[in-house]
Amino acid sequence: MVMQVTAIYPGSFDPVTNGHLDIVNRSRDKFDRVIVAVLVNLEKTPLFTTEERVAMLGEVTGQWNNVEVDTFEGLLVKYAKANQAKVILRAIRAVTDYEYEFQMALMNRRMEPDIETVFMVPAVEYSYLSSRLVKEISLLGGSVSGLVPPIVEDSLKKKTGSEG
Ligand code: PNS
Repeated sequence: MVMQVTAIYPGSFDPVTNGHLDIVNRSRDKFDRVIVAVLVNLEKTPLFTTEERVAMLGEVTGQWNNVEVDTFEGLLVKYAKANQAKVILRAIRAVTDYEYEFQMALMNRRMEPDIETVFMVPAVEYSYLSSRLVKEISLLGGSVSGLVPPIVEDSLKKKTGSEG
């Protein structure tokens, strides 16, 4: 029997950056199926709506046939189980990410011992990149060229009214 491994790559993706895309690109030949899952978080006020985030992700991952984009609400492990995923994929950029990621990984394991969290490290040029900083720079009129895909750059310019 050949085991098919599905990995869930969850996050806010507000918006998707080149760092996220680097992780998806690295993961797609490690797993049979990768689901990029956008958290629908009713408490946070994102810059982009869930639909906008999903549309941008769909466009920039569309060339990869084992990569899907979806949304989820509630507990990540429940969503992973419902999709027969054995792996939760998370990126670690710097040591500062580690504490939060470590807590989440162990808490998720406590709830679903069969699901493993796998950490991947992005290309070094994206190790300081975050959606939060991209939004802040764009809102303040700075350039995010090279940090996000061109369609995201255009959407950011429209959203923030910046010329960046
Ligand atoms: O991109 P982010 O915002 O760092 O992603 C965080 C995310 C979506 C992975 C995390 O908030 C999450 O899994 N939320 C779903 C709710 C849940 O399962 N919480 C318990 C985590 S131990």
